[in-house]
Amino acid sequence: MKRREFIKNTGLGAGSILTAGSITAILAACNKNNMMNGGNMNMGGQPVPVTEGNFSRLLPIPNTVTGNTALTAQATMANINGSNISVLGYQANGILGPTIRVNSGINANINFQNNLSEKSNIHWHGLKIPANMDGHPEALINPASSFNYQFPINQRAGLCWYHPHPDGATAKQAFKGLAGLFIINDAEEAALNLPSGIYEIPLVIQDKRLTASGIAYNPSMGEVMSGYMGETVIVNGEASPYTEVATRFYRLRILNGSNARIYNLALSNNADLIIIGNDGGLLKNPIAVKNIILAPGERLDVLVNFAGLNIGTDIFLESKMFDNAGSAQGKQGFKIMKFKVTQTVSDGFTLPASLSSVNAISPSSSSKTRNFIINAMQMSSGMNMTGIHRINDKIYDKSRIDENVTANATEIWVFDNSQGDEPHPMHLHGVHFQVLERSGGRAQLLASESGWKDTVLVMPREIVKIIIPFSTLTGVFVFHCHNLEHEDDGMMLQYQLA
Ligand code: C2O
Ligand code: CU
Ligand code: CU
Repeated sequence: MKRREFIKNTGLGAGSILTAGSITAILAACNKNNMMNGGNMNMGGQPVPVTEGNFSRLLPIPNTVTGNTALTAQATMANINGSNISVLGYQANGILGPTIRVNSGINANINFQNNLSEKSNIHWHGLKIPANMDGHPEALINPASSFNYQFPINQRAGLCWYHPHPDGATAKQAFKGLAGLFIINDAEEAALNLPSGIYEIPLVIQDKRLTASGIAYNPSMGEVMSGYMGETVIVNGEASPYTEVATRFYRLRILNGSNARIYNLALSNNADLIIIGNDGGLLKNPIAVKNIILAPGERLDVLVNFAGLNIGTDIFLESKMFDNAGSAQGKQGFKIMKFKVTQTVSDGFTLPASLSSVNAISPSSSSKTRNFIINAMQMSSGMNMTGIHRINDKIYDKSRIDENVTANATEIWVFDNSQGDEPHPMHLHGVHFQVLERSGGRAQLLASESGWKDTVLVMPREIVKIIIPFSTLTGVFVFHCHNLEHEDDGMMLQYQLA
């Protein structure tokens, strides 16, 4: 059940005060609805266990297109885990759209044709582009209609992505298959001679709920709380895949394209993951770590060195258990995909000591601090049931501008989840930011959070402070939780840059 419909049905609006009576009414309505759907309540935010496959299917690599292309959202078929099932795609026969690869400085011109039976649009996640091209939740394209997305690429090399963003239907459309990568290259990156061609592997990690005929999307009330997770983890559209590798460095471009699931990525041989970039492009220096927490919407650019391994060795990319992430996340370790060493080669690549210039923005340059309480309404019925996901006690309202920001201003925004029980990956459209500080919870910044970000994970008990240099791209943009069930539930506000 969608929270918004639910509010409408119970007559509760954003400003309503919940009385004991209305809570009982909500619970009754909730139970009734779920009984009618035959669903389970899953009230406490239960984990959805992952079922590993046998890593016998080849990792698909999405086809690559230029910035002058066409995408058609459509109902189509995809072969996942050995079955041909109905999905949504941006091209025929598969769930992921093509990888759009452009050089910085070009003008993208992408014709979007909506052949779905409902409204949709495309948001270019991570791209700093004009508001009218950003895929705002109200800028929708009707079924059987098209729209030309045209925008200049004025940003450094990095891994962005695209997905639908219609108000209230983002989660469903994305979960059923609509997403794709958007890679920007530039001269600075090229000069590093990073592993490329077959040695640069895009990995879109998603969890899906597969049925015999398609991808199920019917979140219960509890699954709106925790976010909708699936039992099958797919990479580039295939369940538990493998890929063959040679004994050398590889560059993995990783997107967590899941609606809600957070991964704690690691290699099964405990080898280093060498982080060279994240949401906003290259880091200043490579940082070697053993594991990386990656929330929905976040991206990673990592180098992995398979040199010295024997032919026939299997290395798994896995997700390890993790703490501090509420009752539904991190409770299980599982394998995601397999790297099978099949070829011995010599590798001329040497890891550069320095990658890019990233200047830390001084907190003293901020002209304003904005505080955002991010949590869900607490209902004290003894069952620790959470309520409507909100930011500063507000749910998304298209007709309300929540924050007015001056063009070119630098601001500090604080996301306060100190009272919350759920992880919230907070994402801003239209900007990249730096993460300044995390207090509470994990109480530290991670290597993967250095450099430039557009999405930052705020775990329960945490307060995370970011600093944002706003640009001159004036207009109305949204910012929201990238747990897509939370986002569709209303955990999204608007800022206007003027
Ligand atoms: Cu991925 Cu609003 O965005
Ligand atoms: Cu975005
Ligand atoms: Cu959230």
